[in-house]
Amino acid sequence: MKAAEQARITADSDGIPDQDGIGGRFILTDHLGGTLTERDMRGGYHLLYFGYTYCPDVCPTTLQVLSLALDELGEKAKLIQPYFITIDPERDNVKVMRNYVEYFDPRLIGVTGSKPMIERVATQFKVKYEKVEEEVADPDLYVMDHSASLYLLGPDGRFIKKYVYGITAEQLAQGLLEVLP
Ligand code: NI
Repeated sequence: MKAAEQARITADSDGIPDQDGIGGRFILTDHLGGTLTERDMRGGYHLLYFGYTYCPDVCPTTLQVLSLALDELGEKAKLIQPYFITIDPERDNVKVMRNYVEYFDPRLIGVTGSKPMIERVATQFKVKYEKVEEEVADPDLYVMDHSASLYLLGPDGRFIKKYVYGITAEQLAQGLLEVLP
C-alpha cells in the first residue's frame, strides 16, 4: 500500500480532515445552545467564517458578501450551510450569537464555545486573531484583529478551498458554483 493511501485511511479512521492540514475535531455550541462538532459538517457543503459580532467593519462586510452570494446562487444556496464562528467567545455567548445571526441572516448558524476550544478550532483552520491592546474608556469595547477568509468544506467534511477577504459577492457566487454539483 502506498504511503499516501495509508495516510488517507488513517486520517479517515480518525475522522480528521487532512487536506492542506486544515480542519480537525472540535466541540462547539451553536446559537441555539446545541452541540456542534466536525461530524455535523458532513453531507452538503459548509462555509465557515471566523469573526466576532462587535466587529465594526470587516465581519459585517464579509457576512453581507456571503449573504448576497447565497442569494445569487438561488436554489443552489440550499446545498451550502454557512457558519459564523466567533473568535471572541468572552463577549459572543449563545444569546449574543443568536441575536446577531437572526438579525443578519437566518441562514447563518452562529457558533461559540469555550475559549480553549475556539483557540483550537481557529488553529485547525489557520485563523489568526488577537485582542488589540489599547486604552479604551470602556474595557468591554475592545477590538479584535482577525483573519477574514471563508473556508469551504465538502460533503465528506474535508476542506476544499478558501476565499480571501475582499472578494465580491459575484466572485464568491462564481467560485462556489465551480465546486457545487
Ligand atoms: Ni471582524
